[in-house]
Amino acid sequence: MRLVIHDSYDDVSAWAAKYIRNKIKRFKPDENKHFVLGLPTGGTPLGMYKALIKMYQDGEFSFKYVKTFNMDEYCGLPRDHPESYHYYMWSNFFKHIDIDPKNVNLLDGNAADLCAECDRYEEEIKKAGGINLFVGGIGPDGHIAFNEPGSSLVSRTRVKTLAMETVVANSRFFDNDISKVPKMACTVGVGTVMDAEEVMVLITGQSKAFALHKAIEEGISHMWTVSAFQQHPNTIFVCDEEATNELK
Ligand code: F6R
Repeated sequence: MRLVIHDSYDDVSAWAAKYIRNKIKRFKPDENKHFVLGLPTGGTPLGMYKALIKMYQDGEFSFKYVKTFNMDEYCGLPRDHPESYHYYMWSNFFKHIDIDPKNVNLLDGNAADLCAECDRYEEEIKKAGGINLFVGGIGPDGHIAFNEPGSSLVSRTRVKTLAMETVVANSRFFDNDISKVPKMACTVGVGTVMDAEEVMVLITGQSKAFALHKAIEEGISHMWTVSAFQQHPNTIFVCDEEATNELK
């Protein structure tokens, strides 16, 4: 496990973007294997996406041989809803780069059979040859993707009913109206992320400081699902100074 500490959010974003660029540039793709990147949504990775777009626009590299798998998606929200993760990924990242749309993978939260959709996603990851680098973000309660406190640390992609706390927290994006907030989501499991060759977790801001402490300074616990990555052979936690405020 590696802990990389930067002064600011902007430095974290720039460093993470360069790290991804270098991995993609060094990768030797062939017909059967693209570089496979797992991606998060949320506020934290926005700076990283902006930095990646800038490097792409400056001609530093291409996403032609990159496949992506997103971590999660709400159930029952139309794809073009501004809060859907499809919408987020296309508007904040994919539409600005040269990725082939057929190489973009997102869970379909409107599938008729959501359990089959989650199984299909795991199959697609396998078919792609596994994930080379999974980038993730965490919540103040240590959740990664929608693996909230109490989730199994060997969980796979599945349908989850969201904790009421999460629904209430998310209502700020839905006119502060709880009735409009999706109550379920499809999410990769902790085990799905653990299978990646490498994991990079972005943690910024004071609100994540306690979670970072729980993630790396105490034992592994399913009540702090991000702590599972202590056992991953190749994990980098990339943090800003504020996020380290609770470290001993
Ligand atoms: C994102 C995801 C979550 C977020 C986490 C932090 O796809 O599944 O784990 O990374 O909720 O969100 P922000 O970055 O908005 O604080």
